[in-house]
Amino acid sequence: MKKDLLCVSDLEPASIWRIFKLSDDESSDQKPLQNKNILLFFEKPSLRTKVSFEVAINQLGGSCLSLADLEIGLGVREEIRDVARVLSSYVDCIIARVFSHQRLIELAQYSTIPVINGLSDEAHPCQALSDLYTIWKKKGELMDLSLSFIGDGSNNVASSLILACSMMGVNITIASPSEYCPRKDVLAKATRLSEASGVLIKVTDNPEEAARLADVLYTDVWTSMGQEREKEERIKAFSNFQINERLLSLAKKDCLVMHCLPAHRKEEITDSCLESPNSIVFEQAKNRLVVQRGILVYLLT
Ligand code: CP
Ligand code: NVA
Repeated sequence: MKKDLLCVSDLEPASIWRIFKLSDDESSDQKPLQNKNILLFFEKPSLRTKVSFEVAINQLGGSCLSLADLEIGLGVREEIRDVARVLSSYVDCIIARVFSHQRLIELAQYSTIPVINGLSDEAHPCQALSDLYTIWKKKGELMDLSLSFIGDGSNNVASSLILACSMMGVNITIASPSEYCPRKDVLAKATRLSEASGVLIKVTDNPEEAARLADVLYTDVWTSMGQEREKEERIKAFSNFQINERLLSLAKKDCLVMHCLPAHRKEEITDSCLESPNSIVFEQAKNRLVVQRGILVYLLT
């Protein structure tokens, strides 16, 4: 049966460990994606996700083609269920970045090939997988670490991190203004997942409290793609939720600073924190390529 990756919780913890192992596997020069054609379909801009997937596909011996929104007209020029069935007869996998997660679910439902979420309004699973891989590599373990996400707890990156941490044994604290707290459905799912892993999940509107707990301080933009009209009100609401030197000084000395990028410097994170010795943001970005290879091999071979 084909496997999709729309949401981190499509996987089991054992499958995530398998993806990490496959990501590390540089031993053979075989080309596991030889004769596979993969379509990248992006409705929004992307640097890391698009380039790392394209390079990963080439490194693994596959071919990729890339289309922008208007070229397919998903759900506009023709219905998603028709697009899904036609594409399934041409290519071996679809990687899609879309505004609406529901459209991705429909695309996957009618496709007979794997569909990978390259970011939607609800989730960014490939980012969260690669972030946990990075933390594992830096700290040598995941169990019992604490990640504090400061900022928009309701966004795609926060949602995927909450689920990934809940599955993989990383305690997670979300500090956000109450109107941007984590989605109820995500928290409910994470609570169920944490019953097996024993993870502690905390939601607070106090960034200092979250920083004191942190082995990893993580943030993302306050205004995600598609929310640009809300920018001014968001800047006001999040002004107390910036990762800056004061907040970093409250965290453990060896606390890692992470950001999925792109960063809006001077909003959610200061230049000095992004450039500090605690920051691993560029190593984090580099690992997107490493883990995309693991994801592709896991889903397609
Ligand atoms: N972090 C991330 O997904 O970056 P892009 O939007 O550039 O792909
Ligand atoms: N939350 C951000 C993540 C970008 C990688 C956005 O959706 O714009």
